[in-house]
Amino acid sequence: PHILVLNGPNLSRLGKREPGIYGHRTLTDINAALEAAFPDVSFEFFQSEDEGEIIERLYDSEDRRSCAGVVLNAGALTHYSIALRDAISAVTLPVVEVHLSNIYAREEFRSKSVISAVCRGVVSGFGEASYHLGVQALLSLAEEGPK
Ligand code: DQA
Repeated sequence: PHILVLNGPNLSRLGKREPGIYGHRTLTDINAALEAAFPDVSFEFFQSEDEGEIIERLYDSEDRRSCAGVVLNAGALTHYSIALRDAISAVTLPVVEVHLSNIYAREEFRSKSVISAVCRGVVSGFGEASYHLGVQALLSLAEEGPK
C-alpha cells in the first residue's frame, strides 16, 4: 500500500524545536524509522510551512487513486484552518490526524482541533509513535476493505 505522510508548519524544525515537548529526533529521522518499521508500505513524505501546499498535496493523492490514506500532522493549522478542514472533507481518502504531543494536556487553544471531526481518527500524545500508530490505523482500514 501507498501512504502519504503529510506534515504542516514548523515540523521541519523537529530536533531543534522545543525538544522538551517534541523530542530530539528530526523529521528525517522519524520518516526513516517509518520506512524501516513498515517495509511493505510505499511512503510518500511531504512537509510544508504553507497551508495551500498541504491542501494541494492532499488533492494530488486523492486524484492519483493509488493512495491508501494520509497520516497528517497539521501542526498549528489543526487549531484554526477551516480551509484544511474543508479539503479533508472534500477527499474520500482516509486521513488520520496525528500529534507528537497530547494537545489536550497543553494550552487551552490547542485542545480544540477544527479537523478532528472530518478525520477518520486521531492519535495524540505518543511522540514519534503517534505516526506509527497512524500508519497502523490506515493499514487496518485497508485490510477491512472498501466501505
Ligand atoms: C503538534 C501540536 C500543535 O498544537 C502544534 O502547533 C504543532 C505540533 C504536535 O505534533 O504535537 O506544531 O501538531
